[in-house]
Amino acid sequence: ARVEWDLATAEKGGEPHFMRKEILEQPRALRDTLCGRVGLDGLPRLEELALGAGEARALEHVELIACGTSWHAGLVATRHLAELARLRASAEVASEYRYRPALPLGAEGGGKALVVAVSQSGETADTLAAMRAAAAGGARPVAVVNVVGSSIAREAEGVLYTRAGPEISVASTKAFSTQVATLFLLAAHLGRLRGTLSESGARELLAALGRVPDQLEAMLPEVAAQARALAPRLLDKRGALYLGRGYGFPLALEGALKLKEITYLHADGYPAGEMKHGPIALVGPQTLVVVVAPQDRLHAKTLSNLEEVKARDGFVVAIGTEGDRELARLADAVFWLPPAPEPLNPLLAAAPLQLLAYELSVALGRDVDQPRNLAKSVTVE
Ligand code: G6P
Repeated sequence: ARVEWDLATAEKGGEPHFMRKEILEQPRALRDTLCGRVGLDGLPRLEELALGAGEARALEHVELIACGTSWHAGLVATRHLAELARLRASAEVASEYRYRPALPLGAEGGGKALVVAVSQSGETADTLAAMRAAAAGGARPVAVVNVVGSSIAREAEGVLYTRAGPEISVASTKAFSTQVATLFLLAAHLGRLRGTLSESGARELLAALGRVPDQLEAMLPEVAAQARALAPRLLDKRGALYLGRGYGFPLALEGALKLKEITYLHADGYPAGEMKHGPIALVGPQTLVVVVAPQDRLHAKTLSNLEEVKARDGFVVAIGTEGDRELARLADAVFWLPPAPEPLNPLLAAAPLQLLAYELSVALGRDVDQPRNLAKSVTVE
């Protein structure tokens, strides 16, 4: 007898799509990201970056440049850098950055900048060009990249590999979470070098970071089953609004991007507090409202935004911290996250957003791994 076999099926490791396989791989991918980067003393070790303490202390701001999902990871990192390293940081879309009026970056530019290119493939044309523009302006660009030996990795003056492993699905998943974890380590490292993050503070955060892969592993089966059960209830939705505050805002952008990419539904990501300035006009029974609302400093404010959505009959899917009764009362469905320090919530909240988009894409009969009009790696302008 002959056993039928094909490479694509074998590579999916028993999963129907690469995207699902890659979402479920995140605990393993994150363990790889962290491997060797937290010392026995519980403190960050990023010698691979070769950034001296003097250089770190002289920094005045950080500019992250990226496209798509990688840009969203950069937006999360701006908050990590401000909180842990007391650094002003901005994340700019590479296609804008490369053509903006050239302001000098180095010492003579009125403040030393660290430029960080963030890219899964390391080949995105706009990101590469933006990084070159930054180098021409006097910056020493470093890169956070997945693909080893890629163009961006080769041209940067320091590389932090994310170690996500090959990502095949066009919609990026494990690349995102490993970028967020790598950038978090960078922020903690800079915080230590600059003296803005105490030894005990760093130890506490890195210990919590070390628990994230296990926490994710424990929650993924339930989240996946819940997303599958929820998808059929969303088939009548005409569009989606994703809301969040603080660390939740870039997650809202990323959740909306995942939905657009693979379901072709219109989706917008907004800071929850900005809803009253326009997007609330969209809310009605056929609007899916996804709110990223883990327990954090801004939680009460996010809940009050949610009250406004409920008053207009929006269908609310929330992502919250276990035990949050108030959130459960306001939402039509909730994905629960285990408790974690606020800066680590993005690592836990990404998976429910990914699985929600995935299951809705499957329910709608879309081509999950190869959505129309999109490419995995965009090497032309
Ligand atoms: C394409 C992909 C996205 C990705 C973006 C940036 O648009 O479809 O998933 O986020 O490029 O890619 P990079 O490889 O630079 O992270």
